Amino acid sequence: MKDSIRVIDSIQEMREYRSLIYETKNIGFVPTMGYLHEGHLSLVEQSNKESDITIVSIYVNPTQFGENEDLQTYPRDIDRDLDLLCKYNVDAVFYPNNKEMYPEGYLTWVEVEKLSSLYCGRSRPTHFKGVSTIVSKLINIVRPLYLYMGEKDFQQIAVLKKMIEDLNYDTYIRPCPIVREIDGLALSSRNAYLNEKERRNALSLYEAQILAKEMIYKGERNIDTVISKMRKLINEKDGRIDYIEFVDPHTLELKADLIGTLRVLMAVYIGKTRLIDNFEITIN
Ligand code: PAJ
Repeated sequence: MKDSIRVIDSIQEMREYRSLIYETKNIGFVPTMGYLHEGHLSLVEQSNKESDITIVSIYVNPTQFGENEDLQTYPRDIDRDLDLLCKYNVDAVFYPNNKEMYPEGYLTWVEVEKLSSLYCGRSRPTHFKGVSTIVSKLINIVRPLYLYMGEKDFQQIAVLKKMIEDLNYDTYIRPCPIVREIDGLALSSRNAYLNEKERRNALSLYEAQILAKEMIYKGERNIDTVISKMRKLINEKDGRIDYIEFVDPHTLELKADLIGTLRVLMAVYIGKTRLIDNFEITIN
């Protein structure tokens, strides 16, 4: 355990730090918006295992929030985050500010067409444009070999993989599994918004997954039947469903048949809090 951690809060200092790292060293990068939990920390652990150097960024990126979204209330606690990271082998934390990331007169955007307008993009039309732009900027500043990202944000990984491929970045995404609470709720910084009752109701996302898997393993092969049972379970727990879709894990295209490997993506409002989750199903 380290008692202090290197925090870099300017782009120039980050570039200087980066330029001093030998070319032969593999750099693992974990971009986050802070308010860290075990999900984020699992990415740091994975980077520690595979990379020589681990860099974490903490930046609540304003451009990925819609106008009526929770940018102002998004939880932030940098001191707590740094305390948590001290327990890991983190070489540097990049903690930039809005003035530097989006200076006055900022005009340039990275947009991955099609993939950004599906699913989460339907209710958050500018979200992935903000994500791909900031991650593109962070890759240019940090120049990592590996980018550790959670499958919790499955569509985000698909969007960024396409961006990396299309823009020829010399960076590779290492997807990491979803970390859950002991009862099954996927960890998320936004879980902090849930009151006690909502926290109980939020479990319906996980319960719907169990239900879907049970139905399918018992032989159900109609996607609509499975979705309607999932919807019923979530609605009974006061969840307002944004979407539940069965998709191809690579193209994110809708799947018509329950065959092969599929990813089930879901977004549900519990009270005012929008939660996402997903799981894999394989049928031979
Ligand atoms: P944030 O929501 O802070 O998440 C940072 C990373 O942690 C993402 O790769 C996300 O998928 C991962 N993560 C979150 N919860 C997880 C869980 N329960 N299990 C495993 N991994 C989990 O995603 C973002 O920030 C931003 O969009 C960002 C990529 C930093 C760009 O601003």
